[in-house]
Amino acid sequence: MTKLIQLIQEIKREYSPISLTFLNQQLRRVQRDKPYAGKTILHNLPLTHETLIKLEVLYAGGAEVLVTSPSFMDVQPGLLHQFVQAGGRWFDDVPEGVQIDICLDCAGELIGKVRPSIGCVEITGTGTNKYTAANIDYPVISVDMSKVKALEAMLGTGEAFVRAFSELTGTTLDGQHFLVMGYGKVGQGIAHHLQPHTSNISVVDKKTEHLALAKEKGLDAINAADKSLVEAAAGKAFCIVTATGIESVVSDNYDARAFLNAQFLANMGGEDEFGAGFPAGRVMCGAKPINFFVDSPTLMHYLDPVFYSHNLGVDLLSFSRLAPGVHAFPDFIANELVAQWQRLHQEGAHI
Ligand SMILES: NC(=O)c1ccc[n+]([C@@H]2O[C@H](COP(=O)([O-])OP(=O)(O)OC[C@H]3O[C@@H](n4cnc5c(N)ncnc54)[C@H](O)[C@@H]3O)[C@@H](O)[C@H]2O)c1
Repeated sequence: MTKLIQLIQEIKREYSPISLTFLNQQLRRVQRDKPYAGKTILHNLPLTHETLIKLEVLYAGGAEVLVTSPSFMDVQPGLLHQFVQAGGRWFDDVPEGVQIDICLDCAGELIGKVRPSIGCVEITGTGTNKYTAANIDYPVISVDMSKVKALEAMLGTGEAFVRAFSELTGTTLDGQHFLVMGYGKVGQGIAHHLQPHTSNISVVDKKTEHLALAKEKGLDAINAADKSLVEAAAGKAFCIVTATGIESVVSDNYDARAFLNAQFLANMGGEDEFGAGFPAGRVMCGAKPINFFVDSPTLMHYLDPVFYSHNLGVDLLSFSRLAPGVHAFPDFIANELVAQWQRLHQEGAHI
């Protein structure tokens, strides 16, 4: 364990202390109280420097931690080697024959594979939808169903899209026409971060309140049900980026040929949102979220409060008796966290 903590502390030196405010605060509490002693936690988030920093809290709190990584992101072999060498308990697939008390999941990948004795905390919207549909017989806390997630999904992912697109394509975004499919948390963040570069942004959504918000922000808002308008906008776009959270949303609803005119097709959702109508290699990064192909998929200060909340789910599950099914991460905690984060980073007043 000492070697593992040493590795994590070395990694932490890459980050400014302010970007780790919430996790460091949580670390101090669990070092004192050891609330996770005697619990076995299965942690299924992409294995990155940032998630190792998150894991420090679970180790310091006394948990037995088993680590896997979701299928949508390849694990960096060098980092995995360092983690295992330092004593990290890594599994290529869900470990069999081990009693898990709490799952910390991403994208709902543990559904049907593990039956935790206490419950699960899910971090993504895609995973929350899957847990809701799965009719599970244990409690699940969804961090995505809270305002905290907007800090990462809206602000962090928007910044990440612009950074990843520039880095991966080497082209300028300035003045170009972007079509954003889905104007939820991620789509709003993408449009917000594109606006300093271009005023030529169209967004597609099916919710009237999201379309009204887009108009308020000066964007060209298109109803997803208006197939010909969506296809006309797609035909003129320089880049089309998807963020609906729905697999194959483009192929299933529109004529893919209109979308194939765009120079760049990028997916930011957890699933391949373009679908079978698009030849292999035509959608950037094999239709996986493009920000997972640059060094920092999301900057640490956006992840800090979300990772804090995902870990805090362990305390909430352990000390409350939640009924089976999906529960939102509590609003009263989320609102305080968001207000503290906004004061600290002077950003995101519009959330
Ligand atoms: N790449 C990343 O780092 C990253 C980070 C966070 C979330 N995500 C993923 O991004 C996706 C979107 O997440 P979110 O939090 O914005 O979800 P969200 O539910 O907040 O937003 C989705 C939006 O898509 C709209 N929509 C649904 N069906 C549509 C359709 N047919 N056409 C157009 N719009 C439609 C919804 O009305 C909603 O406004 C998910 O897959 C999530 O897992 C990726």
